[in-house]
This record gives sequence, C-alpha cells and structure tokens, in this order.
Amino acid sequence: MQTHQLNGKTYFIRTFGCQMNMHDSERVSGLLDSCGCLEVASPEEADIVIFMTCCVREAADTRLYGQCSSCKSLPAPPSGRRVIAVGGCIAQRDGAGLLTNLDNVDVIFGTHSITHVAELIAAAFEDRDTHVLCDENDPAPATSMPWHRAENYRAWVPIMTGCNNFCSYCIVPYVRGREKSRPFEEIVDEVTGLVRMGVREITLLGQNVNSYGRDLFGAPRFAELLREVGETGIERIFFTSSHPKDLLPETIEAMAEVPAVTPQLHLAVQSGSSRILKLMNRKYTRDQYLDLIRRVRERIPGIALSTDIIVGFPGETEEDFEQTLSLAREVGYAQAFTFIYSKREGTPAAKIDDPTPREVILERFDRLVKVIEDSAYAFNQHDLGATVPVLVEGTSKKDATKMIGKSPKNQTVHAPLPEGTTIDGLVGKIVDVKVDTARTWYLSGTMVGSPR
Ligand code: SAM
Ligand code: SF4
Ligand code: F3S
Repeated sequence: MQTHQLNGKTYFIRTFGCQMNMHDSERVSGLLDSCGCLEVASPEEADIVIFMTCCVREAADTRLYGQCSSCKSLPAPPSGRRVIAVGGCIAQRDGAGLLTNLDNVDVIFGTHSITHVAELIAAAFEDRDTHVLCDENDPAPATSMPWHRAENYRAWVPIMTGCNNFCSYCIVPYVRGREKSRPFEEIVDEVTGLVRMGVREITLLGQNVNSYGRDLFGAPRFAELLREVGETGIERIFFTSSHPKDLLPETIEAMAEVPAVTPQLHLAVQSGSSRILKLMNRKYTRDQYLDLIRRVRERIPGIALSTDIIVGFPGETEEDFEQTLSLAREVGYAQAFTFIYSKREGTPAAKIDDPTPREVILERFDRLVKVIEDSAYAFNQHDLGATVPVLVEGTSKKDATKMIGKSPKNQTVHAPLPEGTTIDGLVGKIVDVKVDTARTWYLSGTMVGSPR
C-alpha cells in the first residue's frame, strides 16, 4: 500500500511524557493529515491508534502496556481493521522487544524514525506483519515534517534534539541520542512564519537549550538565538529545559534585555545536596546553583523560578534531603515538578544499592511538596493588587463562566467573563486582569480594559 492509500483513514494519538513527545505527536499528526487521514477523538473511532510513549519513569511504561492491551477489546472500526502503532521513547528503547509484552502491535517506530511513520502504517495495512524501525542513525530530521497544532495562538518550537549530559539516573540520552541543534536560520524562519500565522507565544524546546548550537558552531549560541527570535515580532518567548551548568552570563543578559522573553525560568536543580548532585553527574554544586539564582534575580527581579527535584536518589540520607528542603526554601520556587526516583535499567544509578525504605522516601516527598506549596503561595502574593496581562486559553473546567489563561510568569489566572461575553472571541487574545486573589496554584481577579 502506498501512503496515499491512507487517504480517508481515521487516526487517534495518545501522548505520554514531555513536551518533546507532544511536539513529535504534532509532527506525526501533520504527516498523517498530509496523507488525507482524519484525526478523531477516541481510539474506538480510529483505524489507526498511535501511542507516543515515555520511559523516563516506570509508571509511564506500565501505563502503555495497559492502554495498548485495552485496544484488543475495542469493536473493529468501520474500515474493518485497526492498526496499532507505538512510537516515542519506549519504542526506541525496546524496538521489536516490545512484542514480548504486547502481542497486538503492528508498527513500532523510534524517536529518530518518525518521518517514516506513514509508510510503516501503510505497509501494516497491506501485509498484516509487524513493521519495526528504530534506526538511531536515521538522518531525516522530524522538524522537516509538516505539523498539526491544536492551538493557533501558541506553539512549541524544537531547537535541538537529544542530550549529551548523561545524568546518572536518566534514560533520555539513551532514547533520544546525542544533542543535535537545528540550523539557526531555520528556527528564526519558523518563528517568523508562526508570527505571520497569528502565533503570539512560543516555547523553545530542547533537553538543554543552553547548549544550543555547540554542535554546529563549536560554542553555544542560545543567547544569540533568543535575541534573533525576539526580533521576529513574537510576543512571548518561553524556553525549556535549561541545565544550570550551561546557563551563561550572556543568556541571562539576553533574558533581561529581550522584551518578549518572559520573566520566568525553569532551572532543574534535582537535589540540594552537593554529594547527591555529584552522584547524579549534574556537574554543579549546591553553592554554584544558588549563586546562579542570585545572578538571575539580580538581573531579572521578580522572575518566576521553577524546577525539577528528585526525591529518593539511591543512598540519599536524611541530611541530604534536608539540604534539598533548605535549598527549596531559600530559592522560593514559584513552581516545582517533584518526582520520586525511579530506577531505569541501563543507567549508572541503577547499579547503586539503596537501603532507604519506601515509606521514608514517600514521607520525604510529602515534606518537599509542602515546602513547594508554601513557596508557590508566597510567590503569588506579590501579584495581589497588580494588573497582569493574560493570554486567554479557554474557560475553567469547573466553571464555564470563568476564563482561564497564563500570565508572562506562567501563572494560571482566572477571571469571570464580563456580562454578555462568550469565550469564543477571546481565546488567543491578551486581556488585563486586576488580581484580587492569590492562591497556591492560581491568581484570580477582574478583567479590565479591552482584549488585544
Ligand atoms: N533535560 C531536562 C533537565 O535536565 O532539566 C529534564 C528532562 S526529564 C524528561 C524531566 C525530569 O524528569 C528531570 O528533570 C528529572 O527531574 C526527572 N527524571 C529523570 N529521570 C528520572 C528518574 N529515573 N526518576 C525520577 N525522575 C526522573
Ligand atoms: Fe536527562 Fe540530564 Fe539530559 Fe535532562 S540533562 S534529559 S535530566 S540526562
Ligand atoms: Fe519521556 Fe522521552 Fe520525554 S523518556 S520525558 S518522552 S524524552
């Protein structure tokens, strides 16, 4: 079967994991659309079901097996046959080995092979064999594919793929390969095109955006990229993730000087103990991280800082953990993603024995969450009485009379829709909200002035 014979088939994609995977799904979706396929809202209606998988923690693995198996009990789609495809990081890690746990998979495609997904699916419709492609040397970049975005006012823009850091607990470098930067002009042109299409906010994506360009130019050029992208007319620039060891002074300068760069920085710390940071192979100490935070704050006062923290790294003692708590208190994060360490086979940390009982780790995790909640609450209090520009995303799930959107510091903001207004004309607009309530995870207030 040629890919044009996919014309008219319906597809459903379920995505697990990080923004990189979400964006890969947008590319897969764009490719299938260009073959004449139609996206549907549930696996029941779909001729093609695609799982874009994640293996960063064990829970993500387990969820895939459950969801894939549950497809077996679905009634056949109108076309009579359903093709199940597994892509993303588990596919890259396990390849054909996935078939040991899953017997209903027709296509397995790795993170480097998404440009071939339409051919593989077409072949599976044709011969009913399982088609596997997980070639890490595939030269075709996924970023050259068309993409299909759910929203027309904001977009993810990958600037690089892969990771060179090999943090000792992390599987990502093994499933995404080495750092590969996209050409500078290609990124700037893509953002220019997005601005023309009405996009107002972008998030530049990479596992370590601070080292953007090192493989192309011999030295990182992320600061320069921020400045160029800032000239395109885009109104809001976010970026993630930023590795502390590579956050250069010129990047902090560019963040402070480029008006479109939002006053927000995600800087994963992982642990507050220098001993654990060394075992994690993070290449900075607690003091170096805190010094970086001081320099960022000096240049960008009021910046919203967020982070990732792992609790229960093998051998973490109560003293190490207390260092994490004290660092989190000292920084005063606006937000943090907290994770319990999950052993990933094949990583160096998987070989370290850990005598710490699970209950101790869970109890530590709860203590950390409490510290983060307190700091997020304290951070939001600074905006009480302020007027913040909010990019409108839609209505609140709990109350359709309230609009919901994001501030430049990535805070969720709610406000009642003014009498006689519907959300329709507002999504993608920026409205000013005068804040009268500041809670841990959101601000709320009243809309003032006109949407723009
Ligand atoms: N490259 C990003 C960085 O270094 O900031 C992080 C990407 S990773 C997909 C997101 C987060 O998952 C990491 O920052 C880390 O906190 C967490 N993570 C990675 N491996 C983990 C593991 N084995 N167990 C628990 N959490 C893990
Ligand atoms: Fe994983 Fe570390 Fe790379 Fe982030 S920087 S993806 S945590 S190896
Ligand atoms: Fe998961 Fe792969 Fe992202 S392992 S976190 S989907 S890079």
